[in-house]
Amino acid sequence: MSITLASPLVLPCGAIIKNRFGKAPLTEGLADPLNRATERLARLYGRWAEGGSGVVVTGNVQVDRRYLERPGNVVIEGPQDEAALAALRAYAAAGTANRTHLWMQLNHPGRQTPRRVCEQPVAPSAVPLALPEAAFAHPRAMTADEVTDVIDRFAHAAKVAQDTGFTGVQVHAAHGYLLSQFLTPLVNQRDDEWGGSLENRARLLLSVVRAIRTGCGAAFPISVKLNSSDFQNGGFSSQDCLTVVKWLEEAGIDHLEISGGNYEEPSMMGSKNTEGDKVADSTVRREAYFLTYAEQIRKVTSLPLMVTGGFRTRAAMEEALASGVLDMIGLGRPMCVETDAPNKLLGGAEACEAWEKRIRPAKAGLGWFCLALISHGDGKDPDIDLSGEDAINRFLANEEATATALVGR
Ligand SMILES: Cc1cc2nc3c(=O)[nH]c(=O)nc-3n(C[C@H](O)[C@H](O)[C@H](O)COP(=O)(O)O)c2cc1C
Repeated sequence: MSITLASPLVLPCGAIIKNRFGKAPLTEGLADPLNRATERLARLYGRWAEGGSGVVVTGNVQVDRRYLERPGNVVIEGPQDEAALAALRAYAAAGTANRTHLWMQLNHPGRQTPRRVCEQPVAPSAVPLALPEAAFAHPRAMTADEVTDVIDRFAHAAKVAQDTGFTGVQVHAAHGYLLSQFLTPLVNQRDDEWGGSLENRARLLLSVVRAIRTGCGAAFPISVKLNSSDFQNGGFSSQDCLTVVKWLEEAGIDHLEISGGNYEEPSMMGSKNTEGDKVADSTVRREAYFLTYAEQIRKVTSLPLMVTGGFRTRAAMEEALASGVLDMIGLGRPMCVETDAPNKLLGGAEACEAWEKRIRPAKAGLGWFCLALISHGDGKDPDIDLSGEDAINRFLANEEATATALVGR
């Protein structure tokens, strides 16, 4: 029987996903000044749960309050006070309505911690980002104790997620954040057990996965978001990726989300084609940026694969599923506007409508999509006529105000 967008998916841990849509992780910036979950998050995730996606992965939640990806991140570190736990429970209850799987994405941004919230980020080695120092301060190399502490932090946050009602977790090992920094020789120049060979560079990611499995048990879905490649000379290559995927499968993960790139080379947004200088006709037709890589990954693993980046039309999604290259369709930006895109596509819509008609003409950048999420959190619909320029100004003002309001930093 051929696989359709409506087919359920059984994960290795036994969990059943009701259909083949995965709402990709999208940072929300909706935490309170103590970096706790809020009603705004519950409201936003309620919309996504009602919108029909089989899996909803949360925006990245930090495991260390010193190192935020942005000021409004939710953080889970150490013992959580009763208010924090209650807010997480309400968030999980809203996000798991309608038989939705809600997986918390866990992250440590490493050197991609903005200066606005941290003057001294950490990284595997003291290699700065090739981006303005005004935005990202020079990182220092982590000590071996700090590396092992990261493992405990991920495991602790995963347990809190499980205990408060999230039905799984996703470990963020893509897009140039800390675990992805460990994987790449461009940032990981360590000569201890955490650097050098691929085995050493992947040790932190694999240790995190194993620690979560030990803490959360065999039946708890663990997903990993991994770059198919960093698309940088000397970086984490597609060959490295294939080896790490095999190790992740052996370590017992349930789901792999394929993406690519980082802040220096943002190919996850389609800003750079991934098949050489000219965008291949096949990529344009098939929409998704990382399908060629997914084909390679499929050859080495039977893990459930979700490919994120570029999918917009039902035809391309159905073709990708029917080809057997992937098991789930990841949707990011369209879900910022149409939280019910999966229901619409399952009901016969040809494409993520608002994307084609309104958003592309608005020249929407990252800030535009972040504002759309904030609107949902406030119970409103996004202003789809907002220009790209107005969006970036409003977004920057929001980030500044959120950073200023943070308590106890
Ligand atoms: C506003 C916004 C926030 C994002 N936040 C995250 C995040 O927290 N974690 C993550 O892994 N990817 C994040 N991404 C990347 C998306 O998950 C996805 O990989 C990317 O948008 C490409 O998919 P798309 O073409 O369907 O939008 C974000 C993207 C956007 C637009």
